[in-house]
Amino acid sequence: MSAWGPLEGLIGEWAGEGGLDRAYSHAKNAVLDTPYLEKVTMKPFGPVDNGSQSLYGLDYKTAMWRDDEENPFHTEVGYWLWDAAAGEILRGFVVPRGITVLAGAIGVAPDATTFDLTAELGSPRYGISENAYLGANASSVAYTSTITVNGDDTWSYSEVTMLKMAEFGEPFSHSDGNTLTRTA
Ligand code: HEM
Repeated sequence: MSAWGPLEGLIGEWAGEGGLDRAYSHAKNAVLDTPYLEKVTMKPFGPVDNGSQSLYGLDYKTAMWRDDEENPFHTEVGYWLWDAAAGEILRGFVVPRGITVLAGAIGVAPDATTFDLTAELGSPRYGISENAYLGANASSVAYTSTITVNGDDTWSYSEVTMLKMAEFGEPFSHSDGNTLTRTA
């Protein structure tokens, strides 16, 4: 069994052309579905020991582009972590709008090929923190992500960020998904 548990299938360099983002655009004053290209790198490290806890992780970066634009319109940097004793997966990342997310799941089998991560604003365990402007105008109240390692050198994610936005009475579902194919 790999020291990286269910994260083993994510190690490597990846690209996907079939991304789809659903977000509210201030420029267009409308909810837009935006196709995107993505490049992800996941570099393994470990162990990291906290007392009796032993974590194995992936150092990750991802970036997304619309068509042929020069600069990505969304990026993330962070770490994925696996605690085999607890079956706990963590994905800690920063969105450069000024948001940090520590999404997690516990009790996951070491050979799981699909798992769900969640984070909530205000949770002391799997939480979300955001800047003052976003807290008032476009607050990330909950984040959920389903990861599936497909077994053919691809993996997929489907994620939803619930945003409490000044423009909408009800929380707005900002969603993203893609399938990534190994490039190295
Ligand atoms: C694949 C991942 C993601 C992509 C491609 C993406 C893309 C976008 C886009 C295109 C917008 C609309 C900006 C505009 O035109 O006004 C947006 C807004 C936003 N996104 Fe994401 N996003 C992603 C993930 C996330 C995540 C994980 C979070 C938070 C946990 C997040 C939080 C926000 C917030 C708070 C806004 C609203 C900003 C505003 O009020 O203008 N996004 N995102």
